[in-house]
Amino acid sequence: MQWDEFALWGKKIVDWSSAYHRNLRRWPVRAQTLPGDIAKKIQPIPPENAEDFQHIMEDFESILMPGMTHWQHPRFFAYFPANAAPPSVLAEMLVSTLAAQCMLWQTSPAATELEQVMVDWLRQALGIDDGFAGVIQDSASAATLSAVLTMRERATGFTSNRTGLGAHKAIRIYCSDQVHSSIDRACWIAGIGQDNLIKLPTHGPRHALDVDALKTAVAADRKSGYLPAGVIAVTGGTSVGASDDLGAVAAVAREENLYTHLDAAWAGSAMICPEFRVGFWEGVSGFDSIVFNPHKWLGAQFDCSVQFLREPKLQLDTLRIQPEYLTTSQEGVTNFSEWTIPLGRRFRALKLWFLIRSYGLEGLRLRLRNHVTWAHEICDLIRDTPGLTIVTEPVLSLFSFRCDGDDAQQQRLVDAINDDGRIYLTQGAWQGCKVIRFQVGQFDTTREDVLMAHQVIEEICSSLSQRG
Ligand SMILES: Cc1ncc(COP(=O)(O)O)c(C=O)c1O
Repeated sequence: MQWDEFALWGKKIVDWSSAYHRNLRRWPVRAQTLPGDIAKKIQPIPPENAEDFQHIMEDFESILMPGMTHWQHPRFFAYFPANAAPPSVLAEMLVSTLAAQCMLWQTSPAATELEQVMVDWLRQALGIDDGFAGVIQDSASAATLSAVLTMRERATGFTSNRTGLGAHKAIRIYCSDQVHSSIDRACWIAGIGQDNLIKLPTHGPRHALDVDALKTAVAADRKSGYLPAGVIAVTGGTSVGASDDLGAVAAVAREENLYTHLDAAWAGSAMICPEFRVGFWEGVSGFDSIVFNPHKWLGAQFDCSVQFLREPKLQLDTLRIQPEYLTTSQEGVTNFSEWTIPLGRRFRALKLWFLIRSYGLEGLRLRLRNHVTWAHEICDLIRDTPGLTIVTEPVLSLFSFRCDGDDAQQQRLVDAINDDGRIYLTQGAWQGCKVIRFQVGQFDTTREDVLMAHQVIEEICSSLSQRG
């Protein structure tokens, strides 16, 4: 493709994208295809000769579009959102065009310097103390893995990268039983092992980590010859929004000399609203590492995960490696690839710059506040609906409910709703039972979309129960 043809198609694709978003409500939210339906329509062998782009685009529309689940659909109430506000999509087009590798300051000074400023904008927006620096990663999973590796290195005097773990006592990491599976995986990959990730019970209305249990576990482990290294707290857990008492967790960690990481992947975005910080965010600046995903609820195109670090040197001492081919002559500059696991890095800061400037923090807060209000509204409607019971009350914009019947019936209801296609919901687990999660967070969702979700749930629930 020549660049003049690129310009023609670029314009057509922007028009297509705008129309797609304007007409999204016409699509079923979750793809209605069966496994294998799409693959069998794709040529199994690569073409030897160039194809016309018109033909490629037609296949995209006819073959692939029916197999897409529409994450930007205003009636997407499943998982957590992965928003892509229009200015952040435009930023990504520019990023794709520039296609810069932003691994070192020298390989794109503007990307590095914008990243530093954007991390600081978000630090201020989230009410985190001055003095934190940070880095934009691809995912909360990667930020958590970086933090767990830092816990490991710090606890072993920064020797285990060299010696391996065999030379050390078994490392222990602590968290509640409500953390995301990315914490388990980080411990697997860091060589710490599932058995050394100690999951403690939660209590209270926020389902917070029991800090007395934390103290007891750390003391018992020290006595038994383990090496306690870190605590991972959560604000806004995936199943029901569990949120730890950050001040209390940080205080125990300080007494016990443990490194602290906070996973606020979803709920972190809501902390741009000062009123939502109450009961969730006090003590946050006592953490060593904090991750949140602007690509979830804030509106930044995926992927964009911000990790704030109180003392970046600890993570740098864990991850930095400087072969000759990566050295540069500038001194005192930030080379962000030394802060993260992958070397290659996309220019992720641009979409934050475009997003925050286009809406202003007030514009973004308005959306989040609406989502929380509407989540409470539909929660009350579901509470008053025969055959449905609220299981966990709204945490910000997430709550869970059940229909009458056993776990299999919950799954039947979820599947029937998603087969219907007007809305999309997913299930979670709470106290050993299946629950149906409902979160409001899609960027373009309206109150009408949320109210319609109640009608759909009520209608499908009652037709399922009539069928027995
Ligand atoms: C609380 C929480 N932490 C971590 C993650 C993982 O996020 P990522 O996909 O950015 O790794 C999720 C994903 O939804 C999450 O809900």
